[in-house]
Amino acid sequence: MICDNLTVSPSGRLLFAGQDTVELAKQYGTPLYLMDEDRIRHNCRVYTQAFRKHFGPGARPLYASKANSFKRIYEIMKEEGMGIDVVSSGEIYTALQAGYDLGQAYFHSNNKTDEDIRYSMEHGIGYFVADNVEEIKAIEAEAARRGIRQKVLLRLTPGIDPHTYEAISTGKVDSKFGSAIETGQAEEITVYTLGQPHVELVGFHCHVGSQVFAEDVFERAAVIMLEFIADMEKKHGFVTRQLDLGGGYGVRYVESDPYLDVDTKVGQVAAAAKGACERLGIALPEIHMEPGRSIVADAGLTLYTVGTVKQIPGYKNYVSIDGGMPDNPRFALYKADYTCLPASRMDEPRTFACSVVGRCCESGDIIQEHISLPESVGRGDILAVCTTGAYNYSMASNYNRLPRPPIVMLRGGSESYVAVRRESLEDLCRNDL
Ligand SMILES: Cc1ncc(COP(=O)(O)O)c(C=O)c1O
Repeated sequence: MICDNLTVSPSGRLLFAGQDTVELAKQYGTPLYLMDEDRIRHNCRVYTQAFRKHFGPGARPLYASKANSFKRIYEIMKEEGMGIDVVSSGEIYTALQAGYDLGQAYFHSNNKTDEDIRYSMEHGIGYFVADNVEEIKAIEAEAARRGIRQKVLLRLTPGIDPHTYEAISTGKVDSKFGSAIETGQAEEITVYTLGQPHVELVGFHCHVGSQVFAEDVFERAAVIMLEFIADMEKKHGFVTRQLDLGGGYGVRYVESDPYLDVDTKVGQVAAAAKGACERLGIALPEIHMEPGRSIVADAGLTLYTVGTVKQIPGYKNYVSIDGGMPDNPRFALYKADYTCLPASRMDEPRTFACSVVGRCCESGDIIQEHISLPESVGRGDILAVCTTGAYNYSMASNYNRLPRPPIVMLRGGSESYVAVRRESLEDLCRNDL
């Protein structure tokens, strides 16, 4: 199986986090997002321990909220000692509702609105990660109005292509994010920021891409960033306190995806960063990273009920489910890979070639193509889509006026509880006047 929280019962049913998925589907209905709380905590601890071990005190992982944002996740992040990155007032509001201390939060995005800046400062945001000079001007103005000095990092583009999907690769020079080192704009924004009385520059940030497995992407990014940091120290006397290397470690969606050992990877980045600092004659800044997917993806599983099975002889077979692109838009967005399992028929051979499609009026409403399910697959079966803990609920919509599924948390091998309730038909009209 692609992750060790997936097993099969003697009666041929899929177990997730030790619990029977068919029974969970019966109890909570479908479509249903399941989240394995023990796995989320385990993934957090792998990062926090690796950071402590390889970088020392001060270094810390920040959970990238965009991967999955709901109140319970921030309670878990608080309990696990994780910082967070947020990109909107909505994520900030959700974190606040969970009692998360915003002083530990980093506010990203390439276009923070004036309202975002006002709202987050009002609630004591720890840091802004400013994308461009316009944002620095807006942050400076709001901080001056409040009579405070706001801590900021600057997002830079180190110009690395991590050989990942084009649509989720954000560290290249022509990216819509950040200021490029190569074009001189990174230095310009640094000098500009240093001249602002109500903004305190504490460091730099980069994010080279997502679902990254390539060997040395983070090491190369760290070295490029540290060379820039040394340059700023030499030319402008600016000593960088924090370097945030973004998120992006890959997870296993399908069997062909490699295993990635976070402790080893963080150790390699630390070795490269320490080596670069020694060579450049600078102190190692506090290193941060922002894992999202690798904290929550393999803690998620979505259950659906199968409806129509359509066979077009000589062409194609379709298995339709009671959800689709509104609860998981990732195939529609960038042809993302997923493993689909026949939760109620795990003991049958899988020889029926098909595509799993959603119920929306949209031919791109596909969950996965070219997969195999049992020949007997039919109406009422439970289908599981694995590794859906990241960028599914957080990207979900109400397209075709479909209510969003609930999130049910699993823990301790037998306990389950609702963290986000299922949307009702009334919820769909809640804002309609
Ligand atoms: C700035 C930033 N940080 C962190 C992340 C999280 O990346 P991942 O979920 O791949 O770890 C992203 C994802 O797009 C990002 O844009």
